[in-house]
Amino acid sequence: MRGAAEGEPSESQKSSRADTPGQDEAQPKASRADTTVNRRIGRILISRDEIAARVTELGEAIGRDYAGRAPVLVGVLKGAVVFTADLLRAIRVPAAMDFMAVSSYGSGTRSSGVVRLTSDLSLSIEGRDVIIVEDVVDSGRTISYLRRNLATRHPRSLALCGLLDKVSRREVDVDVDYVGFVIPDEFVVGYGLDYDGRHRELPDLAVLDPIAPA
Ligand code: PRP
Repeated sequence: MRGAAEGEPSESQKSSRADTPGQDEAQPKASRADTTVNRRIGRILISRDEIAARVTELGEAIGRDYAGRAPVLVGVLKGAVVFTADLLRAIRVPAAMDFMAVSSYGSGTRSSGVVRLTSDLSLSIEGRDVIIVEDVVDSGRTISYLRRNLATRHPRSLALCGLLDKVSRREVDVDVDYVGFVIPDEFVVGYGLDYDGRHRELPDLAVLDPIAPA
């Protein structure tokens, strides 16, 4: 695991989607959290300063590993937009940037394991060094799908950089080459991550707490 060995996060920093539709649950996954539950922003899990420091470390590690090359960062819409933009500026080698969007299917927060490509790259990655950039790796289904999809396009190399890794949620084995923070199974928003489309603009990564009914 390149990069992951460096700048290990503190314990407090250490934290779902596939290919064929399910039967009774082939509905787009509205959110990573159950939207029928009222929630509010809770404690900050990872501050903006901790994020910035770790992004700098990841950029340095990637810059070393890709010295003399010009990788393509492939950000996964939408959650990874903010991280991808910051990471691009932290990598001290010429790098290109492109984006893909996928949609997962399931009911509520439950993923059926179905991932579908909804927006494709604008660049050819044939013969290029590609780094997929994810905000969070959860079940691993999205990244598993993307790795398989991109591998068919014959890149020179294919790696994954995930800002957040919820290893305890893993359902599919995936290699995350560069890990920002391993975090517990908590619902996190901010720095590009949303709850039902909201809170992406928050500069820190915060936990979203359910509000108990009165
Ligand atoms: C999140 C995240 C990953 C995926 C990870 O996307 O950005 O793409 O889920 O889950 P997995 O490992 O279980 O497949 P989300 O559905 O929240 O969409 P968004 O990025 O547009 O917010």
